[in-house]
Amino acid sequence: MTAVLVVGSGIAGLWTAIRAAEAGCDVTVVTKAAVGEGSTPWAQGGIAAAVFAGDAAARHAADTLAAGAGLGDPDAVDVLTTQGPARIRDLIRFGVAFDRDESGIARGLEAAHSRARILHAGGDATGAAIEAALVGTVRRRGIRVIEHATLVDLAVEGGRVVGATVLVEDGADAAGVPDSGTPGRTDAATGVGTMRELRADAVVLATGGAGVLYAHTTNPDVATGDGVAAAARAGAEVADLEFVQFHPTALAVPGTPLISEAVRGEGAVIRDATGRRFLLDVDPRGELAPRDVVARAVWRRMAEQGGEPVRLDATALGAEFLARRFPSLDRACRAAGFDWSRDPVPIVPAAHYAMGGIVTDLDGRSSLPGLWAVGEAARTGVHGANRLASNSLLEGAVFAERAAASIAGAAASAAPPAGPRIAASTGGRILRHADGRRAAPGVSPENSSATTRPVDRDDLRRVMWDHVGLERDASGLAEASARLDGWHAPDPVDRRSVEDRNLLDLARLTVAAALARAESVGAHTRTDAPAGAAHRPNPERQAA
Ligand code: SIN
Repeated sequence: MTAVLVVGSGIAGLWTAIRAAEAGCDVTVVTKAAVGEGSTPWAQGGIAAAVFAGDAAARHAADTLAAGAGLGDPDAVDVLTTQGPARIRDLIRFGVAFDRDESGIARGLEAAHSRARILHAGGDATGAAIEAALVGTVRRRGIRVIEHATLVDLAVEGGRVVGATVLVEDGADAAGVPDSGTPGRTDAATGVGTMRELRADAVVLATGGAGVLYAHTTNPDVATGDGVAAAARAGAEVADLEFVQFHPTALAVPGTPLISEAVRGEGAVIRDATGRRFLLDVDPRGELAPRDVVARAVWRRMAEQGGEPVRLDATALGAEFLARRFPSLDRACRAAGFDWSRDPVPIVPAAHYAMGGIVTDLDGRSSLPGLWAVGEAARTGVHGANRLASNSLLEGAVFAERAAASIAGAAASAAPPAGPRIAASTGGRILRHADGRRAAPGVSPENSSATTRPVDRDDLRRVMWDHVGLERDASGLAEASARLDGWHAPDPVDRRSVEDRNLLDLARLTVAAALARAESVGAHTRTDAPAGAAHRPNPERQAA
């Protein structure tokens, strides 16, 4: 029986686990916190798909490519948008009750979509509804899940990924975990847990994004890019790490959620300190321009008004509608002391989503045999330089379905998996040393711990925010690079140190990628470099 190790328990990981188990694989899911602590349950707005009358997959694809500033991979986008509707039907079968109105399933609008095609559940709790349905399915089917088990490194033998070293925290329920099966290897206690090498025929990284790299993020604390960092250390190709999406409307109160783009889709507007709607000066689509455009405009207007947040004005929507359509946000705003039905609320941009990650083909295969990646950890090519709103849950489902099928198929045929197909049109950049070797990040040889200090997570997050944020330039990136070079990674002995090592590795990769792309495109704005060759399509022409 094919042994599959899935790392991560959001939509992409659980979907892969369910489908691989259905195909007869022996599946183990490891997740570093409790199931449900990842990004999926935090997703508010919804899941986009061309399932409504008057829409078409080709239209959804055109919107996705346009939002991606022309750097998306058309083949990957075609897969996403044509197979999306079938995955929506699967979600309904898994038990997700999408919200309904008098016309049937309700449809929301979000920025840069030419049609209202966002399905939502619980008003603004779509991710939580999807996570609950998938967790329920995993539990009912008896799929093995080990919580509080952190990926440390991939195990590579003869160029093939054969498993992973995982830190299983003391007290974690690891009953039934297969033995390492590695002759001569013993599991090692670290004081807070046990390092175990789990062998598998296929390892699937579904570890999500890395918003924690930044001082301000919409992501949960677990989003430290563990899978991408481990894959890069193992020699897998990673790309597009310079494309970090900043969400424009995080509530400007620490510890509170972002305010979903769906609120703007329903008609809320953004005003500066004088009360003026300034986004129409920037783009004719105003508040519904692509997310990178809105985030950059908010950032710049905040700078012009001395750092004061701008405001999201949802007052025209009315108290009853806001409470019904956005119940979680209504509670969150009120808990933070705002009556958003009466007063505009202060908002700021925050790091939200990684467009880049582990390079995969259309079936989730990485460049390393035995290793697949799905969800935010993967760089499938669908997002280009800027993800279209509500395409992330869809990408998780669509490519997880395909990854599970390819794992089951690879086992059946015993054929070696093909390497990833990287479309020439993506502009995706594989990080390589000057001599052509793939770059393995981490402590560079000259960076010995004798001359550097252990990384300080808070400082690292500030460096990334200050120099590798919504706007970058060569001198700021060089400063960031120098600061990162002054740190070394801790030995990975507990969850915190594993995460800090990953954050430092990813920060270095992100800075290198941002330096290498000397152009401004999508979410990557180099104030010292002009707009790239891929020009955003004229909004007049793309609206049909
Ligand atoms: C939001 O609801 O604004 C976030 C949804 C997404 O990131 O696609």
